[in-house]
Amino acid sequence: METKEAIRTRRSVKVFDPNYKVSDAQLQELLELTTLAPSAWNFQHYQIIVVRDPEQKKRLRQASLNQEKVEQASVAIVICGDLQAYKRADRVAREFADKGFYGENGAEKVETQAGMMHDTYANNPQKAYDEALRSASLAAMSLMIAANDMGLATCPMIGFDPEAVKKVTGLPEHLFPAIMITLGAEGDFDLPRCDRLPLEEIVHVNHFGEAFRPNVENGRN
Ligand SMILES: Cc1cc2nc3c(=O)[nH]c(=O)nc-3n(C[C@H](O)[C@H](O)[C@H](O)COP(=O)(O)O)c2cc1C
Repeated sequence: METKEAIRTRRSVKVFDPNYKVSDAQLQELLELTTLAPSAWNFQHYQIIVVRDPEQKKRLRQASLNQEKVEQASVAIVICGDLQAYKRADRVAREFADKGFYGENGAEKVETQAGMMHDTYANNPQKAYDEALRSASLAAMSLMIAANDMGLATCPMIGFDPEAVKKVTGLPEHLFPAIMITLGAEGDFDLPRCDRLPLEEIVHVNHFGEAFRPNVENGRN
């Protein structure tokens, strides 16, 4: 499927086929594609919990406002923000140096760069949280587009009790559930997509309030 088509046809599927099982091979490919999402300094400020066990899905459903799709879908994926991703600073800086991102004599810059990256988040919990949410969200979007391309249905979800999800999935303190995605085969779901706001309402050129008026015949080229 063409990328534009995968974006256009992705839907938040509300009903899943309970008999369909996502295979290990599908999951592996999907998760590898997911982790290609960009993240600040390539820290990948997230951890991913893949829930497939029927009893565990039942518990997760209870933690998710009893939303049936959590149990119905083959897999429920919890993408967790990682508030301590900055602990990977040394590893990240070393790879940047090895791959030439720091230019000549890059090895000499590793310690300073790693310290700077580490302190950016370690000294600023709000920044660490924002970055974790951003990274998890970008990974989630990549996952949903890739899944659609692979013929799989998804629904992003925030309708859950974070503390309950944390407990069910056994998350340590530095992880928080940023978003849940149900994954499987589409069931009996044929509701049309809700409209998006017209671009004039949300796009501004150069400054807020200056409308975007594209000079194209049909709005697309
Ligand atoms: C952050 C986020 C949280 C959402 N939470 C839920 C949810 O808890 N349950 C649900 O059925 N849909 C949920 N949705 C799906 C939205 O309702 C859906 O994306 C929106 O209506 C647009 O529909 P579409 O994705 O099919 O274009 C969520 C979507 C996002 C992005």
